[in-house]
Amino acid sequence: MKITSAEFVISNSEVSKCPKEPLPEYAFIGRSNVGKSSLINMLTDRKYLAKTSGKPGKTQLINHFKINSNWFLVDLPGYGYAKVSKQTKRTFQRFITKYFEEREQLISAFVLVDIRHDAQNIDLDFIGYLGENGIPFSIIFTKADKIGKTKIDKHVATYKKSLLASGWEEMPPYFVTSSEDKLGREELLEYIDNINKN
Ligand code: GTP
Ligand code: MG
Repeated sequence: MKITSAEFVISNSEVSKCPKEPLPEYAFIGRSNVGKSSLINMLTDRKYLAKTSGKPGKTQLINHFKINSNWFLVDLPGYGYAKVSKQTKRTFQRFITKYFEEREQLISAFVLVDIRHDAQNIDLDFIGYLGENGIPFSIIFTKADKIGKTKIDKHVATYKKSLLASGWEEMPPYFVTSSEDKLGREELLEYIDNINKN
């Protein structure tokens, strides 16, 4: 899919204030600093569309980006960032879960995980939550440029084992990406394009 336009529409912490248009949307979720905002910039080929930072906790709201005038990418705050206060964590959690449970336009979540790390309980718990709520999702391995190409398959296989051990019968669709190298860009856009067309 060619990206002809990508524009920021609105940031907010209330699902009721998200765009009303009945356009398909895809939300990026995962631990703070995993590379959600960077991946949005990589996919749209816009360096500064979503705000990124070397410090975790940058994205704090639900951010809607309208792509090609007919679908949305949604950037969300990360979970699991130790340094924010308990109160902030609770507020995040509340509006994130509300978003996933109430947003009718949501077609699929993408759960981002850093390819360098073993499966973390916080991710497995979140994936479990999506499953319990019947929310479709895929997994995106990020920062693949940080490990050697030959190690990618091994890391994915290890992740898959942990996921199956946590109760899943099969590995959901997954993508290996690097926002630095633009790895996985075409594959991911193709995946979204196919869903949008059906
Ligand atoms: P929060 O908004 O805090 O939840 O973080 P985020 O998941 O949106 O992460 P963000 O995109 O801001 O990136 C965090 C850091 O990781 C930044 O320093 C990015 O430059 C870096 N980063 C993101 N993706 C990649 C990647 O594919 N490769 C490398 N090497 N660094 C990356
Ligand atoms: Mg972010």
